[in-house]
Amino acid sequence: MDWNNIRQDFPALNIKSEGKIPIYFDNACNTLRPACVIEAIREYLEEHPGCAGKRSSHYFSKTTEQKCREAREKLASFIGANSNEIVWTKNTTESINLVANSLEIKKGQNIVCSILDHHSLLLPFYKKCSESDAELRIVECNKECKIDAEKFAEKVDKNTAVVAITHASNVAGTILPVKEIVKIAHENDTLALVDGAQFVPHKAIDVKKLDADFYCFSMHKMLGPSMGVLYGKEALLEELNLFMVGGDTIRDVVYKDGKLFPEFLPAPKKFEAGLQNYAGIIGSGAAVEYLKRIGMENIEKQEWRLCKRIIEELSQIDEVKIVGPSSEKERVATVSLILEKKISAKDVAEYFDTELKKYRIMLRAGAHCANPLHYFLGLNPSKGEGTLRASLYFYNTIAEIDIFVNKLKNLLERVE
Ligand SMILES: Cc1ncc(COP(=O)(O)O)c(C=O)c1O
Repeated sequence: MDWNNIRQDFPALNIKSEGKIPIYFDNACNTLRPACVIEAIREYLEEHPGCAGKRSSHYFSKTTEQKCREAREKLASFIGANSNEIVWTKNTTESINLVANSLEIKKGQNIVCSILDHHSLLLPFYKKCSESDAELRIVECNKECKIDAEKFAEKVDKNTAVVAITHASNVAGTILPVKEIVKIAHENDTLALVDGAQFVPHKAIDVKKLDADFYCFSMHKMLGPSMGVLYGKEALLEELNLFMVGGDTIRDVVYKDGKLFPEFLPAPKKFEAGLQNYAGIIGSGAAVEYLKRIGMENIEKQEWRLCKRIIEELSQIDEVKIVGPSSEKERVATVSLILEKKISAKDVAEYFDTELKKYRIMLRAGAHCANPLHYFLGLNPSKGEGTLRASLYFYNTIAEIDIFVNKLKNLLERVE
């Protein structure tokens, strides 16, 4: 693969900001977008800016409907699903909320999550448990931020309604043994929901082989526009209670004797209420096509090359503690650091964003919407304590990593 050539596809990598060369290490938040995604969005907005579905039947609308159908098929094929198992949402957060709000949880049941989960997973299920008088059980990790599947077996029982877990941590980069965890859930007649926001962009996924009941992710973390996806097994999507309803979710609403009799469409349509983000849907199709062209195996290899380098180099710095595991099979290329010096992660991130002459190195500092994990690691987010995170993607380079690590070394040497 000519990775340098691939960098040319990303306009944001090739535009200096205030004269500085951008080094983008915030890919776990959202990735950059290649020209083909931007072009697909432009084409929709300029050439056929109509709504899809059955509301209108003119050229703009028919073209949009056709392109949206194709995008759903591309997405489904990318993760090994059927296209009627793909629900478009705003983001991973909405996908998880949709499931959490649409499930029936009874008093006395429990939901099992983990300490590595993002707020977007923990909070919808926390809310559901609070409303249903159910118990939220948290499986903790070890010092390396790893969790064995057996730890879940200890918490899951016949009263567990859902096991909801992240596939890869957005802080530690840990890949969880999700296949085994899903199996444990199913052995207990329990549903398994997987938050794949930090996995799908980096590694090939086949949701059928994984056997998860629901799988959620965000297109903006994998080259696409700000959009989310909910995969659900067809029969389970059908069983879920309605979430948001409105235009486009119904076949008919009969009015008789002063009453309404709505007839809802089958999933996924019954969950996609109102006019949709067509530019986002079509751009999402372009994003997965682009990822497929590069090949997820190539992406995985390149990311490990980068991840290995950053871990090896950062390990040489005494004042830095890397959070999470260090071997290839156990992590993605999201690397968070605890700084053992009298400087906050926020100040370091600000320094890299604004103070360097030639470069703007964009990092993330804080608790990354994973406060419970930070408390568990001994940090106090309420006092502004957090980690410094560099999250890489395949278009990053070894040279960028070396610049960052050298500059970090220099900075830390200057701090008391
Ligand atoms: C693991 C994980 N889950 C969920 C989310 C929420 O994603 P979004 O903000 O796209 O809804 C994130 C965001 O970073 C994440 O890293």
